Amino acid sequence: MNLILLGPPGAGKGTQAKMLSDKFSIPQISTGDILRAAVKDGTPMGQRAKEYMEAGSLVPDEVVVGIVRDRLQQADCNNGFILDGFPRTVAQADALQASLEQMGKELDRVISLNVEADALVERLTGRRTCKECGRGYHVTFDPPRVTGVCDACGGSLFQRDDDREETIRKRLQVYADQTSPLISYYRGAGVLTELDGMQPISQVQEKMLSQLQAS
Ligand code: AP5
Ligand code: MG
Ligand code: ZN
Repeated sequence: MNLILLGPPGAGKGTQAKMLSDKFSIPQISTGDILRAAVKDGTPMGQRAKEYMEAGSLVPDEVVVGIVRDRLQQADCNNGFILDGFPRTVAQADALQASLEQMGKELDRVISLNVEADALVERLTGRRTCKECGRGYHVTFDPPRVTGVCDACGGSLFQRDDDREETIRKRLQVYADQTSPLISYYRGAGVLTELDGMQPISQVQEKMLSQLQAS
């Protein structure tokens, strides 16, 4: 199953992608996670991406397109993949299409999560992430059993640098301007499923699974 999860910052792409990845044993490919790891390791790509990410802007297309092209060629993508946070521009979507054609693959579904702006801000300001395994939490909506500690691995939880309210507003604007055109792009391609992302995490998951099983 070759999937894209589309949606604004805080829509729940990462949360849902992790669950789908476990359920279907296919990798979650989050360009945000890959870029954050590169920034942390101080690689040349990370050094280049850092200022864009801190400002809440998009990293240049050629950087992320290269990351995804290489990642999709790895053997663990043979049975499927979940793209989380890519593509984010029409140019990225066109480049993805070209890469998939070259590999003889096609997209099965693009699931777009709809969430209201106020809820997105509340989700992002309360988000916490495990330093060790990357699992996401929310201080109110999905708290860990022990404050600041990951249920899954005992790692400590941190708050992302770009989850400050001012940067969040910028990221939401960038989504509206540069990424939301992909909704009609994929509707036109006949692969779009729109889902109400305002429900609790488990209900969004249930609806997503039933949509995927029906398609
Ligand atoms: P990225 O890491 O992709 O961030 P994003 O798109 O802004 O999305 P988020 O990760 O913030 O949100 P999410 O939808 O994954 O929500 P989550 O599941 O965590 O990108 C970061 C930066 O990297 C970009 O700004 C850009 O600079 C760069 N970048 C990345 N990809 C790029 C690309 N393709 N091109 C160019 N640049 C790129 O959930 C959020 C919170 O809400 C959590 O706390 C969670 O517990 C909670 N939550 C989730 N679902 C629910 C629910 N149903 N109800 C209540 N709470 C919920
Ligand atoms: Mg994410
Ligand atoms: Zn963990």
